Amino acid sequence: MSMLTIDIRRAEPQDAEAIAEAHRAAWSHAYTGILPYTSLRVMLERRNVGWWRRAIRGATSILVLDVGGTIAGYATLGLNRARSLPQEGEIYELYLRPEFQGVGLGKRLFTEARQLLASLGCEGVALWCLEENHPAVDFYRLQGGTDVAEGHETFDGKTLKKIAFVWN
Ligand SMILES: CC(C)(COP(=O)(O)OP(=O)(O)OC[C@H]1O[C@@H](n2cnc3c(N)ncnc32)[C@H](O)[C@@H]1OP(=O)(O)O)[C@@H](O)C(=O)NCCC(=O)NCCS
Repeated sequence: MSMLTIDIRRAEPQDAEAIAEAHRAAWSHAYTGILPYTSLRVMLERRNVGWWRRAIRGATSILVLDVGGTIAGYATLGLNRARSLPQEGEIYELYLRPEFQGVGLGKRLFTEARQLLASLGCEGVALWCLEENHPAVDFYRLQGGTDVAEGHETFDGKTLKKIAFVWN
């Protein structure tokens, strides 16, 4: 009998291609119908393998969710960028490939991301989410996030509301 191992670890340069694929699959699934087609296409093209290779070598921490050797998702995190929020850490992105969603893996990755920020000395975590991304909004509320602020971002003439969730 073979066992499926689930591992959450720091991304390495050789993960770049698999993260790029996970990013493409997750973002297409999450944002088709929310973001204008051209904006989404440009974002997906920009985040190619080279972009991820550079990101892995950069200052942002990147965690990968490795399920039996497949990169099922990733999280990026670091210092909070919003000066208006007192939380010191921020989860910039948390994305799972659609076929790995809904079985408890997002919660595990989210928990690890928070723990990594805490181990880096960050007090409190902030995270921004588009309001129209209802499954993600529901997920963050269920994880105990409090919505404390809102902002707007315009994509190709379409303005979308984003919500800041925080954990103290
Ligand atoms: C949002 C996301 C990270 C959640 O991860 P997931 O693996 O699907 O969620 P989990 O299976 O770990 O669920 C954890 C809990 O949240 C609940 N939950 C998950 N999705 C939910 C939804 N759409 N509505 C209500 N509850 C939800 C689960 O029931 C579970 O509850 P429990 O702990 O009481 O059993 C994942 O679905 C994802 O990557 N989505 C697409 C990308 C995205 O939108 N990312 C966020 C951008 S800001």
